[in-house]
Amino acid sequence: MSVLLQTGKVYLLRKQFNNIFSKCIFYRKKSDVSRKFVTFDEIVALRRAEARRSLVVQVNSESSFNELHGYCSKYASINDIHHYRNSGGEHFMLIEFNSEENLKDVLKSCSSHQKDVDVMGVQSPFLWFRASSGVREKYEQSIKQLAVKDGSKSVNEEVLYEELLNCDSVSDQIQMLYDRTVLNDIGVRLRYMVARQLEVVFSSLYANIRVQPFGSSVNGFGRMGCDLDLVLSNNLDEHNLSSQKHRLVYQEKKSEGARSPSQRHMELLGALLELRVPGAGRVQRILNARVPIVKYSHELADVDCDLCCNNTSGVYMSELLWALGALDARVRPLTGAVRSWARAVALTNAHPGRWLTNFPLTLLVLFFLQQKQSGPILPSLNYLISLAGKEDIRVAEENLNCTFLRDLNKLPTDSYSQNDDDLQTLLFKFFEFYSQFEFQDKAISINEGRAIRKPNSLPLYVVNPLEQSLNVSRNVSYEECERLRLEVRNAAWHLESCLDGHKSDDWGILGLVEQKSSRGLKKLLRVGNSHRLVSVKDLFKDNDDVEPSTEGIRSKMEKF
Ligand code: GTP
Ligand code: MG
Repeated sequence: MSVLLQTGKVYLLRKQFNNIFSKCIFYRKKSDVSRKFVTFDEIVALRRAEARRSLVVQVNSESSFNELHGYCSKYASINDIHHYRNSGGEHFMLIEFNSEENLKDVLKSCSSHQKDVDVMGVQSPFLWFRASSGVREKYEQSIKQLAVKDGSKSVNEEVLYEELLNCDSVSDQIQMLYDRTVLNDIGVRLRYMVARQLEVVFSSLYANIRVQPFGSSVNGFGRMGCDLDLVLSNNLDEHNLSSQKHRLVYQEKKSEGARSPSQRHMELLGALLELRVPGAGRVQRILNARVPIVKYSHELADVDCDLCCNNTSGVYMSELLWALGALDARVRPLTGAVRSWARAVALTNAHPGRWLTNFPLTLLVLFFLQQKQSGPILPSLNYLISLAGKEDIRVAEENLNCTFLRDLNKLPTDSYSQNDDDLQTLLFKFFEFYSQFEFQDKAISINEGRAIRKPNSLPLYVVNPLEQSLNVSRNVSYEECERLRLEVRNAAWHLESCLDGHKSDDWGILGLVEQKSSRGLKKLLRVGNSHRLVSVKDLFKDNDDVEPSTEGIRSKMEKF
């Protein structure tokens, strides 16, 4: 990626994805244009770089845009500004500067206002914009107030319901549900800002650390309001390149005491979150889990976070899911519909227990798409492993081999997208497939791409793709597995009954994703915070090759 960013004649390419990265800007050499797929590492590098030159500033209201823009422009040049509100109704501007140097110049002008020793200021990319005292500085009157399309924070369920009701086909409904609920650009940016904040705050205590989002925030299957899984790890050994060549090595501090080192570190991180991380609240330590975590709620970014240490395999798992989701445009909308349905019929639940969670459920969808009946849409993981080169070698904690082909452009085109089924057909076939699946004898393995014999009698067996001796649905009870079988049958019947073309008020996807509330009212699945935004770059939709200049931004704003 760094080569792509630094060398040759670079230009901007706005690549349209049917996913969370639809607003990504990619810097590429001209010779790279023919590449169809970008890699996960490229996306991550881009998002991390974006976060390193961004700040989140709390403001009085969206009308503070003028003043804040004018104030920051005195110090640095601004690339992009986004506005959002958190659940408390407080207003924030996420400002992306042109460079990290620019951001440093702005930070030099920051103060910590507290005189109270109980509340010591801390350097972090989350700031607030103090009301000007005395005479207000005059900023360019030509910049009109930033237009916020809709003040609401979350998807308007009634509007979404009407839109789904008025779709022409179930396939259109599935696509619309996905488009309206997928984690949006500001959601992704904020998640990377929360990760960046931890890097900044913890960096004086840990050498060469990296805090990286994983899970649904980055694997392409995230919805608005999804939680943020974070991993703190060592940045030295990126891609397992040997660090042996470094002859000067930091002395280490060995952990002492009864608890394991990882538990002690998580304890410390919990305390730091409470004391030194602005926005972090409701910190909960879960130290006895297989992977100890600290949960917290980021009130400024409005995100619930799960922080763990050195769980690199979680990142590689996210990369795998991301790659499979990127291969065919139907994968993510279909998975989104299945996730919404499973939540509506209470097969999945945000709390851990004897039921399915979104991760194994996603593997069920991917596995279904590998089936050969009408031509596989996705290849098996074993096939991706067989095509891996030296550059794809990754080894996670506990020597876990996480090697598979990263650059999807190297995949033979006849190994995926081998049927033309529309989303409605695929959803129906998904339910039909699992109505007939022999859960009592068979295990689901996306490594093989076909059902394999179950190694034990657990009710549901979904092989962990990166650690095949483990079952990622080991917690699922017999009753919950039976409910899964029943609900897939009900869903297949429902979709079949829609084939006559009659549009009742629960036709198509509506009958699958509506929840019945305790008062008997139908309710669309709750969708989390959308972080409503207007991106200044959005104003430049028809001029993709041009980096918006401040002048350009101003003239566009005037028309708003
Ligand atoms: P939502 O948070 O429900 O939107 O989905 P998610 O994919 O983020 O799932 P979750 O937060 O439960 O887990 C985060 C990530 O941890 C997943 O995407 C997987 O990469 C990984 N993970 C989750 N459950 C397991 C498990 O049982 N075994 C292993 N090895 N990894 C898991
Ligand atoms: Mg998650």
